[in-house]
Amino acid sequence: MGKLSGKTAIITGATSGIGKATALLFAVEGANLILTGRRTELGKTVEKECRNRGASAVFVQADHTRAEDCESVVQVATQQFGNIHILFNNAGIVTKGGAESVTEQDWHNTLALNVTAVWRMSRLVLPHLRAAGGGAIVNNGSDWAVVGARDALPYAVSKGAVAQLTRSMALDHAHENIRVNAVCPGDTFVERWLEKGYFEHSDPVTMEAAMQESAAYIPMKRFARPEEIARVVLFLASDDSSFVTGHLLLTDGGNTAQ
Ligand SMILES: NC(=O)c1ccc[n+]([C@@H]2O[C@H](COP(=O)([O-])OP(=O)(O)OC[C@H]3O[C@@H](n4cnc5c(N)ncnc54)[C@H](OP(=O)(O)O)[C@@H]3O)[C@@H](O)[C@H]2O)c1
Repeated sequence: MGKLSGKTAIITGATSGIGKATALLFAVEGANLILTGRRTELGKTVEKECRNRGASAVFVQADHTRAEDCESVVQVATQQFGNIHILFNNAGIVTKGGAESVTEQDWHNTLALNVTAVWRMSRLVLPHLRAAGGGAIVNNGSDWAVVGARDALPYAVSKGAVAQLTRSMALDHAHENIRVNAVCPGDTFVERWLEKGYFEHSDPVTMEAAMQESAAYIPMKRFARPEEIARVVLFLASDDSSFVTGHLLLTDGGNTAQ
C-alpha cells in the first residue's frame, strides 16, 4: 500500500521539473493521476513513466490561463476516476523585471498563471474534495513568497499572493477537512535552467557552474533537486500531514533562515 493508494491527484504543470518529479513519486505511492501542461509530447512521456510505475495516469493538454482548459481537466478527472482527493497547483512561470522594466504583458501573464489559475483550479476542485469527505490542496509557492526578490517583481508578487491564497483558503475550508498548504522551494535545479539565456553569466550553464553560483548564498551550498521538493509535496498531500493546514513549508536549504 502506498501513501496515496486509492487517491486521485491532479498535478498541474507535470511535463517537467518539480511537477514531473512529483508525478513520478505519486505514481509509486499508488495515486491515480491527472497530469497537465501545454507540451503534449512531454506530457505523454510522463504519463507513460507513471504507468510504468503501476499508476493509472492520464495526461490532459491544458493551458491553465484558459478557464475552459481548467474545467476540462477537472471533468476528465471525474470521468476517469469518479473522484478527486488531491490538487497540486504547481504550474508556474518565472518573470524577470522590476517595476519600470516589466512589460504589461509579462505582468498579466504571470498573475494569470501563478495566481488566478491557482484560485480557479482550487474553486473547481473544492466540490469534489468535499464530496470525498475531505482532501488536500498543495500550492507551489517559493521562498520568494515570504521575502522580497530583486528584479523579479511580478513573480514575487504572484508568490506572495499564493501564500495568502494558501492561508485564507485553509481557514475557509478547515471545517470541511480540506487542508490547504504550500511548499515553498528555494532554487531547484530543473531542465529549464539549461535553456540558453537563463543565466546571464554562465551560458550554457553546467551543473558544476550552477552549483558554484549557489554556494555563495545558500547555507546548504547547493540547489535542491526536484525529487526533494516532491517528497515535501507528498508529505503535505498525504495523511502524514493530517493536522497541518495553512502552512508554508520552506524547502530552501536554509536560504530564508539567514
Ligand atoms: N525551480 C525553482 O527554482 C523553483 C523555486 C521556487 C518555486 N518554483 C515553482 O515550481 C513550479 C514549477 O516550476 P519548475 O521549477 O518545476 O519549472 P518548469 O520545469 O518550467 O515547470 C513549470 C511547469 O508549468 C507548466 N506551465 C507553464 N505555463 C503553463 C500554462 N500556461 N498552462 C499549463 N501549464 C503551464 C509547464 O508545462 P508546459 O510548458 O508544458 O505548459 C511545466 O510543466 C512553479 O510554480 C515555480 O514557480 C520553482
